[in-house]
Amino acid sequence: MLSTKTIMDIETIRKDFPILQRKVHGKPLVYFDNAATSQKPKQVIEAIEFYYKNYNANIHRSIHQLGEEATAKYEEAHQKVADFINADSYQNIIFTKNTTESLNLAAYSLTSNLKKGDEIVISQMEHHSNLVPWQQLAKQRGLKLKFIEIDEDGNLDKNSIEKNITKKTRIVSLTHVSNVLGTINPIEKITKIAHENNALMVVDGAQAAPHMPVDVKKLDADFYAFSGHKMLGPTGIGVLYGKKELLDEMQPFLYGGEMIREVTFGDTKFNDLPWKFEAGTMNIAEGIGLGAAMDYLGKVGMKHVQQRDKELTNYAMKRLKEVKEAKIYGPEERGAVISFNLNNIHPHDVAQVLDSEGVAIRAGHHCCMPLMSVLKVPATARASFYLYNTEKEVDVFINAIGKVKKVFGV
Ligand SMILES: Cc1ncc(COP(=O)(O)O)c(C=O)c1O
Repeated sequence: MLSTKTIMDIETIRKDFPILQRKVHGKPLVYFDNAATSQKPKQVIEAIEFYYKNYNANIHRSIHQLGEEATAKYEEAHQKVADFINADSYQNIIFTKNTTESLNLAAYSLTSNLKKGDEIVISQMEHHSNLVPWQQLAKQRGLKLKFIEIDEDGNLDKNSIEKNITKKTRIVSLTHVSNVLGTINPIEKITKIAHENNALMVVDGAQAAPHMPVDVKKLDADFYAFSGHKMLGPTGIGVLYGKKELLDEMQPFLYGGEMIREVTFGDTKFNDLPWKFEAGTMNIAEGIGLGAAMDYLGKVGMKHVQQRDKELTNYAMKRLKEVKEAKIYGPEERGAVISFNLNNIHPHDVAQVLDSEGVAIRAGHHCCMPLMSVLKVPATARASFYLYNTEKEVDVFINAIGKVKKVFGV
């Protein structure tokens, strides 16, 4: 049987990513900061360049050839995203700036008709972008925000799920995959529990959509948010998927041009979905670039991406466990993320020495300060992988950790 490495032909994939040819401090770049943002294949870069060179125009309003071409490509990108996550239609797909804006859109619109005392449930492992909007809106609107706890392994605590999601819950909003612990949360099961309690389910898919097949129909989530830049696409483009009947009822988050059908001095009729939620001139080039990223990932196949991530993450876990000073956070079964600390060496120092060896990782609180307090650390180092990374790069990373130990005398 062919291994996934052969099926995906990693060396061919790597050639599509120009940045992987560069050196850092004279060493070949080992890019292990994919959870922050992924690198971009030439197919995405060229799609954006081709738009600007050949059919740059505003969309939905220009009665000329360029405008029609730009509109068609931008709308086609919505359809590509819909197909990618198995949504019914492009009408379920709202383009935003990023996951953060998608979650803010959901939070503002969904909390606008809640009443004092209504409850929102999130978890202790949420990224600030799935915590701060709910926290601030709860304060402004007199809502109660509750947190599902994590257990010792870094999974959502089963009892805490049952205890927190009740008939008082109106919204549950959870991350699909933790950007710190790598935990893959059982979204399908929790959505069922939310729906049994008549609550809506919002999912932060920022670390899931790039790495595994996502089927919004199977998950049955009401809303699903993710960022283009973490899945080979450009920055400045994100997605909020929503069920049509809910989007139809929701108030837009931003008002202005493009999102209207008819305006009088006294009132406004909103545009059809999804344009009702896309006010003003959108990030057209970036939307088209995201369409190219969907094509690329679709060609590789998300099942292969998932298998390959797993293979490489397992290898990295095995190698990092050989370093006896390393403490790894999170469960064994995980996404393509490994957070760790090396004795008492500050993660920033770890990252700096690794950088001197050409290895790019992230160090800090990873926009999860409350989770850091649960883990009782100020910060962690984090290595995160994607389809173009290799076992050889993991070996370079482990050797560079050897250098960190030498520098700090551990
Ligand atoms: C789990 C999770 N949610 C949300 C975000 C926010 O994504 P963005 O900065 O693209 O809005 C991130 C980014 O790292 C993330 O990892």
